[in-house]
Amino acid sequence: MRVQVGIIGGGPAGLLLSQILHRGGVDNVVLEARSRAYVLARIRAGVLEWGSVEVLRGAGVGERMDREGHVHDSIGIAWSGRELFLIDTNQYAGRPMMAYGQTNITEDLYAARDAMGGVVIDEAEDVRPQDIDGERPYLTYRKGGELRRVDCDFIAGCDGFHGVSRGCIPGSVLHSVEKVYPFGWLGVLSETPPLDEIIYARHARGFALASQRNPMLSRYYIQCPLDTKIEDWPDDKFWAELKARFPPEIAKRIVTGPSIEKSIAPLRSFVAEPMRHGRLFLAGDAAHIVPPTGAKGLNLAISDVFYLSRALIEHYKGKGRYLESYSDMALRRVWSAARFSWWLTMLLHRFPDQTEFDERARESELDYLSRSEHAKRSLCEQYAGLPFEN
Ligand code: APR
Ligand code: PHB
Repeated sequence: MRVQVGIIGGGPAGLLLSQILHRGGVDNVVLEARSRAYVLARIRAGVLEWGSVEVLRGAGVGERMDREGHVHDSIGIAWSGRELFLIDTNQYAGRPMMAYGQTNITEDLYAARDAMGGVVIDEAEDVRPQDIDGERPYLTYRKGGELRRVDCDFIAGCDGFHGVSRGCIPGSVLHSVEKVYPFGWLGVLSETPPLDEIIYARHARGFALASQRNPMLSRYYIQCPLDTKIEDWPDDKFWAELKARFPPEIAKRIVTGPSIEKSIAPLRSFVAEPMRHGRLFLAGDAAHIVPPTGAKGLNLAISDVFYLSRALIEHYKGKGRYLESYSDMALRRVWSAARFSWWLTMLLHRFPDQTEFDERARESELDYLSRSEHAKRSLCEQYAGLPFEN
């Protein structure tokens, strides 16, 4: 097989890149290690910046999102002993947010790829990028025991944190920066009506978050120790702990019910630089991980794909400038989101080794945030998403 761009990974980054490139006249193939059913069963984040909403609409996959997604413009911050305060992203940043699950986005992308005749090869085993330093890179993989080859001009590594792409960049070139947090999030999905707003809660028992997917689907999280086992958290215990971390008037409004999914994710910040080596380009979780606080992971995957698709489409039109600047441009946005999600994580979580000073400084910062128009504007500008660079 020969295509212009070989894409590794059929998560949101790889599928969206494939969709935008196809619409821009650049032929491509996606090689995904897992089955489609497996990819579609993953439950991940669900808050979109408005810039992401526009990229998805522009890619022709906005229809169901516009119908079923929940546009909202305020986020709430609660912390023990104080009243909840709401921050209006429309008022402070001029744009709302959209609650729409990554699982749905992935479904929409697969449907769009099928409708356009896009090629997504699932259960592609042992995918390997080859000759990324040369002029004629190619991919090899196995399917049903048979070794296959895809020749291409460029390779896009959209294969997530545990993928094969990042490791193909020589150690002398690749620089990785990492911060691991001493806790995780225990998340529950339940078919119950969510609260009106997304509310972040800081509490002496630990952080908690109330989020949403649609009018009958709620997503809640609590901070938990890294060695937590899901079996130790039956639904009743989860709901009791969740409610204990919200102010009583909010806890009263939380509608509980059986969980339909429960999972634990550790928190980590990770950035690999550069995001390009030779003819290999990294996008999404393949190059960076942010802690979920602030919901930047999916939005970053979308902004990387926006920059990379623009660069490749322009390249085939004879204009090369964006390919050269892809890594720098993408990394500026990555670092800005990495900083923001680190800051929000530090502000809202309980750390095992925290001192009274740490605690009081955080309380003071939250107090400042609740009173200062400037601080709210700064939070909203970043939460709602910084504009893409030209
Ligand atoms: N070969 C082919 N496919 C692979 C390989 C491989 N060696 N390794 C991983 N993959 C596939 C995975 O099975 C997965 O479907 O690559 C895909 C990567 O998808 P994601 O992990 O969802 O990453 P990405 O598309 O960058 O989306 C980022 O996911 O983790 C969240 O917060 C993050 O929302 C963000 C989004
Ligand atoms: C989610 O809905 O899964 C979510 C929302 C906000 C966050 C993180 C996750 O900051």
